[in-house]
Amino acid sequence: MSKPVGIGIIGCGNISPQYFKGATLFSEIEVVVCADLNLELAASRAEEFSIAKAVSVDELLADPEVEIVLNLTTPQFHAPINKRILEAGKHAYCEKPFATNREEGQEVLELAKEKGLRVGCAPDTFLSSPLQTARKLVDEGFIGKPFGGTAFFACPGHERWHPNPEFYYKRGGGPVLDMAPYYLTVLANLFGPAVSVISSAKKVFDERTVASGPLEGEKISVETLTHNVSVIEYSNGATVNAIFSFDVQGSHDLPMLTVYGTEGNLSLPDPNGFEGPLKVSRAGQDWEEVSWQHNYEGMRAIGLADLAAAIRDGRKHRANGELAYHVFDTMLACEESAESGQRVQIESTFESLPAIRASDGAAPLF
Ligand SMILES: NC(=O)c1ccc[n+]([C@@H]2O[C@H](COP(=O)([O-])OP(=O)(O)OC[C@H]3O[C@@H](n4cnc5c(N)ncnc54)[C@H](O)[C@@H]3O)[C@@H](O)[C@H]2O)c1
Repeated sequence: MSKPVGIGIIGCGNISPQYFKGATLFSEIEVVVCADLNLELAASRAEEFSIAKAVSVDELLADPEVEIVLNLTTPQFHAPINKRILEAGKHAYCEKPFATNREEGQEVLELAKEKGLRVGCAPDTFLSSPLQTARKLVDEGFIGKPFGGTAFFACPGHERWHPNPEFYYKRGGGPVLDMAPYYLTVLANLFGPAVSVISSAKKVFDERTVASGPLEGEKISVETLTHNVSVIEYSNGATVNAIFSFDVQGSHDLPMLTVYGTEGNLSLPDPNGFEGPLKVSRAGQDWEEVSWQHNYEGMRAIGLADLAAAIRDGRKHRANGELAYHVFDTMLACEESAESGQRVQIESTFESLPAIRASDGAAPLF
């Protein structure tokens, strides 16, 4: 087996432990160094997760042991840091959203092409066992021809739990850019590219209050629309009804993701996770749980491991920049359509890559 690909992490905040831990599940990758604007935080993560070095961003980018840089900064820094990573001659993999506008997203893709380097992006949850099993069932025609679906995310807002939630309500934040990536990446993986969107959106609260941590009680002024309702059409002919909201205060009974086919329906588990029941209801029958045909331990970092394996094997990686850009373009279309009141056509597309092969978890995954 070849040596694991060296990973450097920039951004050691709230989400980083999931990657520090997740990376240890995959023999393809090893986190060798981490960095943050807050050097103390980087040092404490290095100690907690037994990472050899915590350094400055410049030192990390110059480190010869680092082949892929994982960018876990906040959204406004995703594209600028991705560009610095590529300029430093390393492959870039970042958290979602891919960018804050189309121009900077395109610039990242073009720079990677020019440099002969790769770009990857979260979410990689569409590579989970249940969601890859769903892809296999759709590919095999298990529910006939898919013609529709639903995607619902509704919560009272991340300020209830996140210690530093301001970015969710500023440029690059909001429920569409923050939560739709999970839903729209799964739908793109099942249906192919989206082709058009028509949406309506509003801001229900002008101000939010941080509910926990050292900033508890601080006010955030809301600069994004926080309740978006969209109808999305896909290239395979399927139409999806979606709600992405930070404004729903109480409980709701909306399913997270449903796919309707000519011979039955699929109910998918939370696309922001790696587990949960995958259910099918064939024509005239009730819901039944389907066993996963891909059984591997999942955690954020599977997309990164697939990128590392793909670099070694000379094939395309699944959680790639082209797919992330398309999902990002679709999300911007949801916001733009809501503002203009017009249907927005989606220009971007991506190449659909094969599902991860069915596996009992014993054989190598990729
Ligand atoms: N928190 C979650 O549960 C969660 C879940 C999924 C995805 N994400 C995504 O992960 C990203 C990070 O979220 P988070 O919750 O960890 O945010 P966070 O604010 O907790 O952490 C971000 C870290 O990045 C550092 N940073 C920012 N700009 C930097 C720069 N230019 N150079 C070096 N370091 C820099 C900050 O100092 C901070 O420590 C966001 O895009 C978010 O959407 C977060």
